[in-house]
Amino acid sequence: DTVQKGGFAHYMLKEIFEQPDAIHRAVHAVSEETLPSSLRQASSITVVACGSSYHAGMIFRYLIEPVCGIPVRLELGSEYKYTPVPFSDVIIGISQSGETADTLSAIRKGICNNVKTVAITNVLNSSITRSAHDTILMHAGPEISVAASKSFIAQVGVLMQIVNILSGGRCHDILDHARYALEQVLLTDLTEAVDLCSKAQHLFYVGRGVFYPVMMEGALKMKEISYIHAEAYAAGELKHGPFALLSPDTPVIAICTPGPAYEVMLGNMKEMKARGTPIVAFGNEDDGDVSDIADVVIPLPKAHMWTQVLTSTVLLQLLAYHTANRLGREIDMPRNLAKSVTVE
Ligand code: G6P
Repeated sequence: DTVQKGGFAHYMLKEIFEQPDAIHRAVHAVSEETLPSSLRQASSITVVACGSSYHAGMIFRYLIEPVCGIPVRLELGSEYKYTPVPFSDVIIGISQSGETADTLSAIRKGICNNVKTVAITNVLNSSITRSAHDTILMHAGPEISVAASKSFIAQVGVLMQIVNILSGGRCHDILDHARYALEQVLLTDLTEAVDLCSKAQHLFYVGRGVFYPVMMEGALKMKEISYIHAEAYAAGELKHGPFALLSPDTPVIAICTPGPAYEVMLGNMKEMKARGTPIVAFGNEDDGDVSDIADVVIPLPKAHMWTQVLTSTVLLQLLAYHTANRLGREIDMPRNLAKSVTVE
């Protein structure tokens, strides 16, 4: 068992550490030549997915719309059956296992309505590959841990590469750098943040723009493996309800990196701080304004926003992992959860 885990205490930690290679393979899994023509010609795209895969789809929407001007409609697999079709000329179904019943039925619904379909999956010959018109395999390698880590980063890698290709290679350099960027953050010391999170019963995760789905994925990881109640909000939504719950017992994990949301995030963190809420903030490594407000800073290497999407995702996985480990959770096989959900 220890040998299979490559000396790591859990498969999840091993798989987190495999992410530099996984992102590299995923980015190279699709090229100008192999990109399905339905995507090359798409004037609008619908993405359907569940769980972590849905969060990858949401990141895709934030990235592709400003760069390529292609509108993306995003649907949960389990809800898509209640919407009329079609809304777009292509449906992308994202599913690491390729077996999620709700995502499969979305693909079939597209086909019945003469909409082109593309599957993004990690499993060769899985059900989704046999249903969809085209398949992009993300080549993350086998993932044993129930909670997705390297399959998620690989999905984001494939989706970033799709945006890159559709934009005529505008994001090539960023993706070229992704493997190294992930290697850089794997050994970040998260002890102080883990101290704070492992004592909490409730955690809020907040971000803006593309970092909102990054935080949704971070909160999902925390829930899945530590069993701590973790909720993600778009930071601007806190005032519309969750603010009533903030107290010294409800730490907030926030992300505040340079970009269009920077100033307003700093303001949001000050408002939270005024309620006595402990703040763990992801910020650029030398950002004094973030460290003045936050109780704990998780430093991100300075980089392009896309790169910070990847690095913060990995650090949020590690935060969940180390918190769960501190609490003695089973981690690789969380209670009540399954790696693939083949029923509605
Ligand atoms: C299960 C897994 C999650 C996954 C979700 C969707 O709940 O535990 O990790 O995100 O299914 O799975 P899929 O295989 O469709 O990506």
